[in-house]
Amino acid sequence: MSSRYYITTPIYYVTDAPHIGHLYTTVAADIMSHYQKMLGKEVWFLTGTDEHGQKIQKKAKETGETPQALADRVVKKYIETWKSYGVEYNDFIRTTEERHKKVVQAYIKKLMDSGDIYLSSYQGLYCIPCEAYCTETQAVDGKCPDCHRSVETLREESYFFKMAKYVQPLLKHIETHPNFILPESRKNEVLGFLKGEVRDISISRTTIDWGIPMPADPKATKSHKVYVWFDALTNYVSALGPLDKDEKFEKFWPEAIHVVGKDILRFHAVYWPTFLMALGLPLPKQIIAHGWLTDSNRKISKSLGNAIDPVALAQKVGVDGMRFFLFKEFVFGLDGEYTEAIMYQRINADLANDFGNCISRVTNMIPKYMGNDPILVTSYLNEISELKTLASEVVIQAHKEMETFSFHKSLENIWKLISGVNRYVENNAPWTLAKSSDPKDKRKLEEVLIHCHESLRIASLFLVPFIPKSAKQALSYLGTDSDLSVPAPLVTQLTWGQGPKSITVTKSSPLFPRLEMPKA
Ligand code: MSP
Repeated sequence: MSSRYYITTPIYYVTDAPHIGHLYTTVAADIMSHYQKMLGKEVWFLTGTDEHGQKIQKKAKETGETPQALADRVVKKYIETWKSYGVEYNDFIRTTEERHKKVVQAYIKKLMDSGDIYLSSYQGLYCIPCEAYCTETQAVDGKCPDCHRSVETLREESYFFKMAKYVQPLLKHIETHPNFILPESRKNEVLGFLKGEVRDISISRTTIDWGIPMPADPKATKSHKVYVWFDALTNYVSALGPLDKDEKFEKFWPEAIHVVGKDILRFHAVYWPTFLMALGLPLPKQIIAHGWLTDSNRKISKSLGNAIDPVALAQKVGVDGMRFFLFKEFVFGLDGEYTEAIMYQRINADLANDFGNCISRVTNMIPKYMGNDPILVTSYLNEISELKTLASEVVIQAHKEMETFSFHKSLENIWKLISGVNRYVENNAPWTLAKSSDPKDKRKLEEVLIHCHESLRIASLFLVPFIPKSAKQALSYLGTDSDLSVPAPLVTQLTWGQGPKSITVTKSSPLFPRLEMPKA
């Protein structure tokens, strides 16, 4: 297994501030990045913004700004939103940056020289919101097959990329790398597309000004800009350094994992790999496609007018409440219907009731029944208990689910442990044991409490990538947070008995106050 990990989000259009759908993709990548660091890997996490193309040009015209001014204004909202959600990326790339433009132009030039990009002309149906052409058969009733909005007829002199040439090699790659596209259902969509009629694609536009210029060419009669998807996809490599010779490229590119929404899977799983093959570069390791957050079964999006502001949501239910809700409630590969009622229910039930109450119960009972001095835990933890068995089982399962981005299943396992602690407390009634004068009962009481404590330490540690602030707070109440700064893999501390040998538990305040859903 490699000791490095490179994870990317799509780069977002700067037409408007981010909404909850964008948050979903970014937080997914952030959780994975935190988690991989916990496993001791050297992680590189990239996000950024997609700032060229017709969409941006059109929006800038509407707002009366230059496209650059629009991008400069909106990019700030992305940066602020990610900051407010505790997203810890290593690099933020903007496609209007020089470091990116240089790489795009060099790649286009290379493909023109090799003959994989050639000049011709094109007439077709074009979807502006998706920045993509579609065929007559795909455009049922003149609507885009992906977003179902009207398509327009465009005719233009165009450069083409020889995509058809790379279909067979790509099919072979998918076949020999079964985890290249996940989940399986989405992989089948890609295979279906590749087994159909795949044509060469138009790789330039003459209808826009706002884009990276194609290299000078005496054969061209018009001024061409690079197709925005070629421009955008290249960010994953251009951010690693100039012309793939950088040390960062060598280190991280072979480990690249792209997290994307299902709507942009084809660009990542077909277009991008074929561009890379033509450039003679290795393919990314994996492409993970998630479903959409929907509202009355329609994708939540700014252009459909049902966007929800993530910053406002965090003010209502907390950053960790949101981070948790999105990944406990929804199955990563599938669509999920978002409602405020479900959000409040989920946060109250799982965080305020189950986790929060459990932490508060245990951290109040330990000082009450065992005093405030440091407690040596090893001898207690060597004893057998149902929690000890359960903790080992759920941690193994939770790790396994993370391998395939099954966040909700991973969390379900952690919740089995938290519910197990609540049950264990009820069944063993520490308050009754505390009344007994029998020394055996005293030892039993201490053992019960320390086993609950150890289970919660493990659960909280596993939750750090999901709900960083509250999980660290929980660890601090449990008196075991000091070792979070240790550079050694935290994964070892997820094993029973591998936490600090001595703990000092302080009485806690509620981690998650119960939320009242505002009346409509
Ligand atoms: N700029 C392109 C990506 C280029 S990557 C080289 C783009 N940008 S986007 O801003 O429209 O969307 C980016 C991501 O947000 C996509 O992964 C998309 O699936 C995700 N989401 C947007 N709305 C969404 C939901 N309602 N639900 C979940 N994710 C969705 O596409």
